[in-house]
Amino acid sequence: MARRILVTNALPYANGPLHLGHMLGYIEADIWARAQRMQGNEVWYVAGEDAHGTPIMLAAEKAGKTSEQYIADIRAGHEADFTDFHFSYDQYHTTHSPENQDLATAIYLRLRDGGYIARRNIQQLYDPTRDMFLPDRYIKGTCPNCGTPDQYGDNCENCGATYAPTDLVNPYSVMSGATPILRDSEHYFFELGKFEQLLRDWFAGTYTDGKPTADSSVVAKLGEWIDGGLRDWDISRDAPYFGFPIPDAPGKFFYVWLDAPVGYLASFKALCERTGLRYDDFLGKDSTAEMHHFIGKDIINFHGLFWPAMLHGAGLRVPTALHVNGYLTVNGAKMSKSRGTFIQARTYLDAGLDPEALRYYFATMLGPTPVDVDLDLKSFEDKVNSHLVGKWANIASRTAGFLHTHFDGKLADRFDDEATAIWRDLLAQYEGIEALYEADEYAEVTRRFVAMADAVNGYIATKAPWVIAKDEARRVELQQVCTFAINAFRLLSGLLKPIVPITVAGAEQFLGGPIENFADARRELFGHTVNAFSPLFGRLDPKKIDAMVEASKESLTPAEQAREVAKAEAKKSNKTKEAPKPMTDTTTTHISIDDFARLDLRIGKVDVCEFVEGSDKLLRFELDAGPLGKRQIFSGIRAAYGEPEKLVGRNVVFIANLEPRKMRFGLSEGMILSAGEGGSDLFLLDADQGAAPGATVR
Ligand code: MSP
Ligand code: ZN
Repeated sequence: MARRILVTNALPYANGPLHLGHMLGYIEADIWARAQRMQGNEVWYVAGEDAHGTPIMLAAEKAGKTSEQYIADIRAGHEADFTDFHFSYDQYHTTHSPENQDLATAIYLRLRDGGYIARRNIQQLYDPTRDMFLPDRYIKGTCPNCGTPDQYGDNCENCGATYAPTDLVNPYSVMSGATPILRDSEHYFFELGKFEQLLRDWFAGTYTDGKPTADSSVVAKLGEWIDGGLRDWDISRDAPYFGFPIPDAPGKFFYVWLDAPVGYLASFKALCERTGLRYDDFLGKDSTAEMHHFIGKDIINFHGLFWPAMLHGAGLRVPTALHVNGYLTVNGAKMSKSRGTFIQARTYLDAGLDPEALRYYFATMLGPTPVDVDLDLKSFEDKVNSHLVGKWANIASRTAGFLHTHFDGKLADRFDDEATAIWRDLLAQYEGIEALYEADEYAEVTRRFVAMADAVNGYIATKAPWVIAKDEARRVELQQVCTFAINAFRLLSGLLKPIVPITVAGAEQFLGGPIENFADARRELFGHTVNAFSPLFGRLDPKKIDAMVEASKESLTPAEQAREVAKAEAKKSNKTKEAPKPMTDTTTTHISIDDFARLDLRIGKVDVCEFVEGSDKLLRFELDAGPLGKRQIFSGIRAAYGEPEKLVGRNVVFIANLEPRKMRFGLSEGMILSAGEGGSDLFLLDADQGAAPGATVR
C-alpha cells in the first residue's frame, strides 16, 4: 500500500541569502522526496521561511525596512534559489503567517492547560538606551580569561574560553555601545523534563519495517543530552521582538524556536487549504501517515527534544524520522568570505554552473550519518565530468547515432548473449535502490551507478560498435550492441532521476517516454524507436568555477573584508591551526610519511580526570605515559564528557611532542585526540585492550 508521507526541510532564516551549505541538506531532502514519489508513495513536501527573532528584526531596521518588508524581500530571493536548483516542494510558506500564529498559539495553550508551562523571573543584561534585553550575541566586552577586547558574550575568539555574558569585563551593547545593566524579567518555560520517557521511547523506536527514527549517532547524542538532565526551555522573549505575542502575557513574545517548527505545520495547513487534503490525517494523534524532517546537525536538539515533546504535549503525533546532515566545508576548510568559498546559491547559478552538477556531487557524499561534507572544487569538476558526461551521457551519445543512421532509431528485439549476462548483473546491482534512497544512502547509490556504468562502457569498448558499423554484414550485431547500450542507459537514468531530475528529463525525451518509477526502469525496451540524441549535460568548465570563487570574494562588504583580514592576522599570531580537513573520499592534499613521523603519538592511560575549577570547558587529565612518565594535559572536552571520573582507566591517544603550554590552570603537556566538531560533539579516540601506556601510535 502506498505510504502517505509529509516531508519537510529546515526553514532558512529570513535574514540573508542561501549559501551552498544550506543547499546540502535541502538537496538531500529533495532527492528523498523525489525517490519516494518514484516508488509510488503519496508525498507532500513543504518548505518555507523562518521569519522571526531578534537578528531579523535588527537586520530589517538596519536596512531601513519594516520587518514585514524585509522578510518578504528575502523570501523572494530564497524562492528563486529553490526553484532554480529544481526543488520539488508542494508548498512554500512562512512562519510569519496567520496559519502559523493560529497553530503556535493553539499548541502553546494546550501545553499551558496541560500543565507544562512554568513562569519565573530571570536576570538578563538590558540595554538602557535601546530599552531592550540583549541576547548573548549582542553583548561584547573584554575576555575575562585572556583580556582580549571586543569578544562576544558567550565565548572568546582568541583563547576559546566560554563564559556567561555577565562575566565579561567592561561589557557593552553591540547596538548602542551603552553599558548593559542587569534586569529582572518574568519568562515562560516549557517543562521538557516531563517528557523524558516519551522522548526515550520515541527515538529508540522504529517505523515501517524497522527503520530507525534517526541515525544511531543522532540517537546516541539525544540519549546523552537526556542523561545529562533535561532543563526547562525558555520560550518567551520580551518586547521589542519580531514574533507572535503570547496569549495573556502582555509584552511577551514566543521565542523564534517555539514557532519555527510549527512553521512546517503552517506550510502544510496552507497546502491543505489549497488542495483539500485533510490536515488531521497527517497530524492527528493516531495518524498513520509519516512525517520526516530533514535538518542540519546544529539543530538536532530542537527537532529531537523540544519538538516531539511539544507535539505530544499538545495532543498531536510525533515525527516519524529525523534525517540529519553534517556541515559543508569548501576546499577542506570552513567556508570563508575572503577565500571566496562562502558561496551563495545565486553566485553559483550566476557563474553559469548547472545546479544538477552540485546535486550530483553532494549525492556522492551523502549518507545517513551527519558527517561533514567537503566541496573540493577540483574534485567537483573532475567527478561530475567523469561520471555524468564520461560514464553516463557517453553511453547514449556513442551509440544513438548508429541506431539513427542504420535503423531509423529502432532498437533490436534482443540483446546478444554477452549483453544478456551483463544485463542480469546490472539488474542485480540495481536491486535495492529504493531502500538505499529510503535510508539516505545516496553515496552508495552513486557508487553503484559508477560500477554499473563502468561495466556498460567496458562492454561497448570491447564490442567497438564504430568498428562493427563499417561492416555491412554485421548490421544485426550492431543493432543489438546499441540496443543494449540504450537499455543500460535507461536503467542508469532511472537510478539517477531523483538526483538530477532535469538532466534525466532530457534523457527521457531522447528515449521517447518517461521512466515512471524505479521498476519501470528495469523494463527492457525492444523494437522501440528512440529520438535524436542531443547533449544532456554540459561539461563543467573550470573557468566558471574560478569565476564563482572570484565573485564570492567580491560579495564581501568593506567592513567584512576588514574583519576577515583582522581574523586571519589574529589566527596567524596565535598559530592556531586551520580547521582540520574532513575525511571524505575526495581528500586530495597529501602529506609525506615524514610529515606524519614528526608527530609523536602515544597511548596514555588515564590516571586522573577531573573538572577544572573556574573553567566550564576544560578537563584536567593525568596520563600514565609509560616510559615518558606522567603527563598533565588540559583538554577542552568537558561539554562532551560530563562525568570525568568515568574516563579513569581508559586508554587515550595523545600528541607527546607538542610544545607544552602554560595555561591559567597549570602546564598542559600535550594534546589528547578526539573526533568530532567540538562542543558536545567530541569523541575520544580509544586503543584496544593490550596497548601499553606510552606505546607509539604509528
Ligand atoms: N531557521 C532555522 C531552522 C528552523 S527549522 C524549523 C535555521 N536556519 S538556518 O538558515 O541557519 O539553517 C537552515 C539549514 O541549513 C539548517 O538545517 C542548517 O543546519 C543548515 N546549514 C546552515 N549552514 C550549513 C552549512 N555550512 N553546512 C550544512 N548545513 C548548513 O537553522
Ligand atoms: Zn580570551
